[in-house]
Amino acid sequence: MIGLRDLQDDDSRRLFAWRRDTEVDRWMRGLPPSDPDAHQAWFDTFRTDPTRGGWIVTLNGEPCGWAALTNITTKNRRAEWGWYIGEPRARGRGAGRAAQALGLDRAFRELGLEKVWSEVLADNDIALKAQAGAGFRREGYLRRHVWKDGRFHDAVLLGVLREEWEARREAARLDLHRSGLLAA
Ligand SMILES: CC(C)(COP(=O)(O)OP(=O)(O)OC[C@H]1O[C@@H](n2cnc3c(N)ncnc32)[C@H](O)[C@@H]1OP(=O)(O)O)[C@@H](O)C(=O)NCCC(=O)NCCS
Repeated sequence: MIGLRDLQDDDSRRLFAWRRDTEVDRWMRGLPPSDPDAHQAWFDTFRTDPTRGGWIVTLNGEPCGWAALTNITTKNRRAEWGWYIGEPRARGRGAGRAAQALGLDRAFRELGLEKVWSEVLADNDIALKAQAGAGFRREGYLRRHVWKDGRFHDAVLLGVLREEWEARREAARLDLHRSGLLAA
């Protein structure tokens, strides 16, 4: 069963380790943290910043990943979605899809947002597939947008509107429920 729980003090060290994992880092736009103290400062600021919300993804109660809404703007009622499954054994089993369904509910049903958007590296097929399944549509293609690992990468700009998620929500949740990933 997949859940999202609020951040706790000791999550800082697991986020540091997950974010540095090469299978996570290769799909991120930024650099991985290298200094634990700087990472701790980022974590502490994140938790008190009203424009950001972050959760630990749990698999049967055990931490397995990270989900976040950042750049939350109440004026425009939108936020940026980002997530990863940090535990390698939890990837490819639906945790990402389930965490995303829970994250979109936080965005649209709890925070009252109208739109969630994200930027995904253009060759991140798994993320693109998972996001398309939740109703994210392609809103732009950003050429040579990210410099990473010694080269430029293209990125895809995605967005999902509140009603687009609501139109898919029931079927998506039913599917995840049948797979034992979400409660009814
Ligand atoms: C992207 C990520 C969060 C997806 O979570 P996940 O639990 O691994 O993926 P899921 O099992 O939920 O599968 C999502 C989709 O990708 C497909 N998929 C998953 N693993 C796959 C693989 N190894 N090969 C091909 N397809 C795969 C699934 O079939 C599913 O497709 P569907 O929605 O059409 O059924 C996770 O793989 C991850 O953390 N990747 C590294 C970091 C990252 O890319 N984060 C997103 C940055 S934008």
